[in-house]
Amino acid sequence: MKNKNFGRRDFIRTTGLAAVGATLGPGALRAASPGAPTVAISGAAPAVISAASLPAISGGTPLRTKPWPDWPIWNKVADEPLVVDDLRSGIWSRAALVDQFEKEWGAYIGTQRCLSVVNGTNALITSLLQLGIGGGDEVIVPPYTFIATVAAVLATGAMPVFVDTDVATWQIDPNKIEEKITTKTRAILPVHILGLPADMVKIMAIAKKHGLVVIEDACQAHGAEIGGRKVGSFGDAGCFSFQNSKNLAIGEGGAITSNDNGFMDKCYSYHNYGNPYGSVVGQVNAGTLIAGNKLRFTEYQAAIGIGQLKRLPEQTELRNANAAYLHERLGKIPGVIAYTLTPHVTKAAFHLFPFRYDRDGFKGLSRAAFLKALNAEGIPCSEGYAPLNKMPYLQNAFESKNYKKMYTTAELDIHAFNERNVCPLNDKLCNEEAVWFYQSMLLGTRTDMDDIVNAIQKIHDNADKIKE
Ligand SMILES: Cc1ncc(COP(=O)(O)O)c(C=O)c1O
Repeated sequence: MKNKNFGRRDFIRTTGLAAVGATLGPGALRAASPGAPTVAISGAAPAVISAASLPAISGGTPLRTKPWPDWPIWNKVADEPLVVDDLRSGIWSRAALVDQFEKEWGAYIGTQRCLSVVNGTNALITSLLQLGIGGGDEVIVPPYTFIATVAAVLATGAMPVFVDTDVATWQIDPNKIEEKITTKTRAILPVHILGLPADMVKIMAIAKKHGLVVIEDACQAHGAEIGGRKVGSFGDAGCFSFQNSKNLAIGEGGAITSNDNGFMDKCYSYHNYGNPYGSVVGQVNAGTLIAGNKLRFTEYQAAIGIGQLKRLPEQTELRNANAAYLHERLGKIPGVIAYTLTPHVTKAAFHLFPFRYDRDGFKGLSRAAFLKALNAEGIPCSEGYAPLNKMPYLQNAFESKNYKKMYTTAELDIHAFNERNVCPLNDKLCNEEAVWFYQSMLLGTRTDMDDIVNAIQKIHDNADKIKE
């Protein structure tokens, strides 16, 4: 099971443990043999430093070799009966277990309705389409998110409009949204990125003022709360992912949550080939009513989800407690800039635990060297996302047949688009500052959290011994 939780990150830029060995060239300091108290560095006036304080990347002893908690968690006794019974029953397509999972997830999020779908990406696409978003519309998005958020907008034919990140909170900056609203803007798509809630109070007020719909990308924010209310229940739609790395893991899967019955009936119909459902009804025998898709969840996915949901509240509490402890201790290390939660947050999901790295606090050590050094100490970490507002997929969409039919040449000019969508603070966050730890690490003990703090402190105190 080792490192399974990092699979998704392989698609992002990571600084993995495997990379660490490669940096130890012939000139690097050799590790002191276990038990040897000191290692001398060659030079005119040899310094004597302890192997424990010499960074592992420079040949010292790693602070930690113990494995981190596994992810996902599978309890044979608690989890297998429902799944195995379903497999033996042969009822594998959508039926009673999917209904049950939807009821339970809707109740957990606090919405009247919930629809499960194949994944979070399609939860977003379905929501956008059934809220009437399409070609010629503009959708406001953050640049600090996973590609699926923007890919979903492009899949509908709409135009993404990027609003810079508030780097203190890591979320879309609500104070910069209004300046990006035009006559074509139809929706705001805030992402509760890393599982830290976006400022939904401000975002909902802006949406109301301008008559926009709001689709919350809560794919990383299972159980996060603002004023005691769960994210995914504020907007016209909330979208979740149950992909394997997520805080509720099913392998693949997604859900839409909402209190709007008409909208949810349309989503249901759409996910089932466009067949009649609820208020989506036509003349008797009229046949299929809306241009649909096939996005149904399976019974065995639901059976896994029902088991995982039982432990989610307790895991969320543990992540919050460990995150609060880390936040407090790490924030005291010069060069570590702790996150600020947006106003009124009562709970975060901590799909990732972030901090901003300031190399000036680490004697000028680059973030890349810091990450390699921290991984070498036995603390898995990553630099996270690259800026999404500048990647080649945008030009690829603009060169597509559909986009050329829906937009003018000026609207599809990638250079003009790039100029309209500059996000300098997000660039700095992605390229120089962001450091992530994974949610499963927050399911560890206090001693595990101390290992994270002590490893960063060790690198901080010995930054001058690390070669770039
Ligand atoms: C912020 C965000 N949005 C959307 C998605 C898409 O979810 P999925 O991978 O289930 O399609 C993900 C997850 O990977 C995500 O992290």
